[in-house]
Amino acid sequence: MNKKYHIHTFGCQMNVHDSEKIAGIFDETGYGAAADSGDADIIVLNTCSIREKAEQKFTSELGRLKKVKQKNPNLKIAVAGCIAQQSGKKLLKRFPYIDFLFGPDNIGSLNTLLDGGNGRTAIEHNPDYHTSIIPMKREGGLKAWVSIMYGCDNYCAYCIVPYTRGRERSRPASDIYDEIKSLADEGFKEITLLGQNVNSYGKGLTESIDFPDLLRKIHEIEGPQRIRFVTSHPRDFSAKLVSAIRDLPKVCEHMHLPLQAGSDSVLKSMNRGYTYDDYKAKIDMIRAEDPFMAVTTDIIVGFPGETDDDFEKTVRALTEIEYDGIYAFKYSKRPGTDALSLPGHVDEEVKSARLARILDLQESICYRKNKILEGKIVEVLADGPSETDSSRMTGRTRSNKIINFDGDKDDAGKSVFIKIVEARMHSLNGEKV
Ligand code: 5AD
Ligand code: SF4
Repeated sequence: MNKKYHIHTFGCQMNVHDSEKIAGIFDETGYGAAADSGDADIIVLNTCSIREKAEQKFTSELGRLKKVKQKNPNLKIAVAGCIAQQSGKKLLKRFPYIDFLFGPDNIGSLNTLLDGGNGRTAIEHNPDYHTSIIPMKREGGLKAWVSIMYGCDNYCAYCIVPYTRGRERSRPASDIYDEIKSLADEGFKEITLLGQNVNSYGKGLTESIDFPDLLRKIHEIEGPQRIRFVTSHPRDFSAKLVSAIRDLPKVCEHMHLPLQAGSDSVLKSMNRGYTYDDYKAKIDMIRAEDPFMAVTTDIIVGFPGETDDDFEKTVRALTEIEYDGIYAFKYSKRPGTDALSLPGHVDEEVKSARLARILDLQESICYRKNKILEGKIVEVLADGPSETDSSRMTGRTRSNKIINFDGDKDDAGKSVFIKIVEARMHSLNGEKV
């Protein structure tokens, strides 16, 4: 009988994609996917440390697994991802029942770790990680993530990513091209290019290429109908990119452009490298080219030093820009980051009240924006039956909005035209035309 593995993924798309690589290695090594974590011989927790809450989720799952392992001592527990990278051997000391751990640059060491080689840790940053070839097990056959760069050099004062994912490295364009070409041959329809800061793609490569050039190059590949990318840094978002998006029909009408805060003094102490006016000018540039471009953002409330006045500037920014969606977070202290030593840490209750206020504001904006879409016919890539009502289908518009509609199961994986009949806060309802 083959040994069975189970991967529990926490956190961002980068981690979800890393889990596809971890699964790819297990499959090549002769392991099979467990139907359920209870059937697994080895469980990998692929962890996230972006905020304290994410770490708490991991420790509570680890606590649960400790009990499972007491009943089944043959079960192996491995920890991957950002917490493994950041805490390293300290984690093994604190939780001795973890068998081994490996960081995001060391997924390729999983084989050796499974064989009992290499000790119990693989967490060295690897500047050449982008050149290693790692098998991948992608689910679904419809949408695929493709890494174009790793790490981040921005050192935003609140952020742990530069410490867990290391220096910024771009993948050679030919590797990216070849990977997408084979995804196209396998029938994938939507490609999402992944990187912490895709707009600085190309830095450090021997070839002279930037992100808009890369988009143009991969746009030539026949097959995929949709190209998306995350995440953009506003500082590096250029007019050249806006022109590329305009010229390339497969690039979807959705930008995720994290603002973080509306106050210039907060942006400065966050080390973001732009003012609100700089940011707003980029939004204006995008909308001048395409007024229907959906724009989403990330917001942090309660960053150290954020006064009521500063917070009101974030509120004003949301009112002025009218995002299609936001991800909003209370500032969370992260070990080793510059923001820890800043003065003026904000009380938890104040942070909670600020978060509630902007979420409430954004709900009304989302509803109003979705309402405008009623009656319009849009192209939808159908994912499959809706999770909440399996008699209906669900998919995404090119602008990345969730849309549920009456369709048949055969629509899964296809492009269908849907008339939007009802706007909701976070989704749309439609019917097939
Ligand atoms: N506290 C709160 N939010 C954070 N983010 C990153 N680090 C922190 C932190 N320490 C948010 C930012 C980023 C998103 C991925 O997570 O908004 O854009
Ligand atoms: Fe973190 Fe800033 Fe890099 Fe984004 S750009 S990963 S927020 S350091």
